Amino acid sequence: TDDLFKNVISHAKEYGFVFQSSEIYDGLSAVYDYGQNGSELKNNIKTYWWKAMVQMNENIVGIDSAIFMHPTIWKASGHVDGFSDPMIDNKDSKKRYRADQLLEDRIAQLDEEGKTSEAEELQIEMDNALKAENLPRLRELIIEQNIKCPVSGTANWTDVRQFNLMFSTQVGAIADESDTIYLRPETAQGIFVNYLNVQKSGRMKIPFGIAQIGKAFRNEVIARQFIIRMREFEQMEMQFFVRPGTQREWFDKWKQTRLNWHLALGTAPEKYRYHEHTKLAHYADAAFDIEYNFPFGFKEVEGIHSRTDFDLSQHEKFSRKKMQYFDPEVDPETGKPYGNYIPYVIETSIGLDRMFLLTLINAYEEEDLSTEEKQDSRTVLRLHPALAPVKAAIFPLTKKDGLPEKAREIMDKLKLNFNLQYEEKDAIGKRYRRQDAIGTPFCITVDHQSLEDNTVTIRHRDTMEQERVNADDLERIIGDLVSW
Ligand code: GAP
Repeated sequence: TDDLFKNVISHAKEYGFVFQSSEIYDGLSAVYDYGQNGSELKNNIKTYWWKAMVQMNENIVGIDSAIFMHPTIWKASGHVDGFSDPMIDNKDSKKRYRADQLLEDRIAQLDEEGKTSEAEELQIEMDNALKAENLPRLRELIIEQNIKCPVSGTANWTDVRQFNLMFSTQVGAIADESDTIYLRPETAQGIFVNYLNVQKSGRMKIPFGIAQIGKAFRNEVIARQFIIRMREFEQMEMQFFVRPGTQREWFDKWKQTRLNWHLALGTAPEKYRYHEHTKLAHYADAAFDIEYNFPFGFKEVEGIHSRTDFDLSQHEKFSRKKMQYFDPEVDPETGKPYGNYIPYVIETSIGLDRMFLLTLINAYEEEDLSTEEKQDSRTVLRLHPALAPVKAAIFPLTKKDGLPEKAREIMDKLKLNFNLQYEEKDAIGKRYRRQDAIGTPFCITVDHQSLEDNTVTIRHRDTMEQERVNADDLERIIGDLVSW
């Protein structure tokens, strides 16, 4: 499984999906760039999410709020005071670690060694220390367990300190006059502070949702596992505003709806599981993660949180602006309108980059095609056709006899609707393999017969079967498979 993960990472680079940021300068830790195929795949995932959330739901609309926001927002949201990780430095290697992560790794190790009761005990001790924000106790546990720095091999640790995860910068040219502002660590706050603007201008009635896709920034202490934990990443979040008292019902509904969204891509259900949070974030009264079984174990991809009226109440307090909604609907119990209240919020929050990695890993296959006569294999991305970066590749069989012209003519008719690739280099078999490697569902070959009767061969990625079809039918054939 370690090999599988390594192979996917190198495949992602070789085929233009993901590059390390600033690679020619030896990279920037936990920052990545998406290449020509990666950005197509990422856009297609965004489209799938946006259509499922906004287009398919009359009561959900989308916005695009700024990354920079008034600094008081992060006071109100609790991020200035509470959004931090406990960190510890090794005095010899000068390497920095998350204290809780060191302990988590130790717990996993104890588990592996079959020392389950010791592992459980340590888990409880750690959870208690984290809950009480007892930083000296975290250090004690690390020392007691004799946890060593993997780099220096020593257990020479500093104190544990809280490390805020928000990036900050200065607005304005003159340092004295400027204010510190933050790069948003979640897109959700842009939705909260706009909720009444959207509700009024869109004449939205509760229950309703606001969706957003955008960048978020966190100064993660440790960066690991490729694009799982990045310092600059993208979120797709939706806040669903509901009448107080109905939050449990909506929470359950969104929990199921979001898992269905994942499964509709054809991923095996056993690859997914729910994980219930017992340690709740400062804003939540219930929280479930949707986890995917990556080659390195189950990891969170998406969170569904019941955020109560925490955020909106905090913004009312800090901004001194009314955050209430007037509900004209009649309460059957009292016979009167529900009236004014601060809505409760159910949030669905998925990391786009994690969804991207999941999609790539889930699609990746090294397929053995050997027969008795010869050994053969191919690497194929079995992506859902709607997510595939390139929908079809068009090949003239040879570079002469008017075949390229005919191929271009066919391509020109299709390229407004589908992302296509034209290739005339190398033998057809080699061209097929290159398209398999980026997950292209169709390869279309134009040959001499095409000039006579306007037919082409169409080769299917998954079955590798070929059929002869009329070029005028391509629009429909491709459209049937790659549309949502
Ligand atoms: N508004 C709620 C919120 O931000 P979160 O659990 O902190 O909740 C939501 O983040 C999702 O964002 C996670 O499930 C994960 O997929 C993604 N995410 C969080 N931190 C990330 C990071 N450093 N790199 C990549 N994705 C991240």
